[in-house]
Amino acid sequence: MTEPAYLTATRGGYDAIAESCAGPFRAALDDAPLDRALLAAFAEMVRRDHPDPLTVEVGSGHGGTAAYLATHGLSVSGIDLSTAMVEFARRTYPEVGFRVGEMHNLDIDDVSLAGLVSWYSLIHVPEHDRPAVLAEFERVLRPGGYVLLAFQVGDDTLHFDEAFGHEVSLDFHRLDPDAVVATLEAAGFGLVARLVRAPEARHAAAPVPQGFLIGRKPAEQASAASGAG
Ligand SMILES: C[S@@+](CC[C@H](N)C(=O)[O-])C[C@H]1O[C@@H](n2cnc3c(N)ncnc32)[C@H](O)[C@@H]1O
Repeated sequence: MTEPAYLTATRGGYDAIAESCAGPFRAALDDAPLDRALLAAFAEMVRRDHPDPLTVEVGSGHGGTAAYLATHGLSVSGIDLSTAMVEFARRTYPEVGFRVGEMHNLDIDDVSLAGLVSWYSLIHVPEHDRPAVLAEFERVLRPGGYVLLAFQVGDDTLHFDEAFGHEVSLDFHRLDPDAVVATLEAAGFGLVARLVRAPEARHAAAPVPQGFLIGRKPAEQASAASGAG
């Protein structure tokens, strides 16, 4: 089956800009205390509930976010569509595992992960494909597993034919938190947390509110105590 044209375009775009975009994208986290606090809280929840806190960052790009999660005690690896981004991440964070993969079709067993993070990667998936992607996230998470999503808030799509001096064809979808919550819930997640923060003044490239959602796959119910009563 041929892949959707937007996946080919996204892969090509990030392959072209990997070496130039990785530094600025990576620096964004250094400048965003709330984002780091949220990642740390997410890591703590995953560790609290899962003795084996196996976590994957999907769309891991430069690798800095996965590396940050690793310093907060998660057994984390990164998956990215772009070979060039994976090469950058491997070189920069050799202590974290990174591999090429695609979020619609993860090379991960059913119910195997304690945590999954999509940190500004769902923004490259058009609305009609988001339910299938969140269903894929639900498939790979264990009962009680957590998902963390980060995205720019809005209802428009920014299209770039040029980025960092390279010819690309990249779409960045801004997302409506209400719509993403509805898609998360339709995929079977319960909402744990929702945060919308104002843009950081120094993030000139994304001067819009930033949205963060944490969802949790329902934990398995303990079977009713036998002989009770
Ligand atoms: C804006 S960057 C975010 C990088 C990183 N997560 C961060 O913390 O900044 C988006 C990344 O998602 C990746 N990506 C986009 N669509 C993807 C898909 N369908 N499957 C896997 N990765 C994807 C891109 O290659 C790119 O590296």
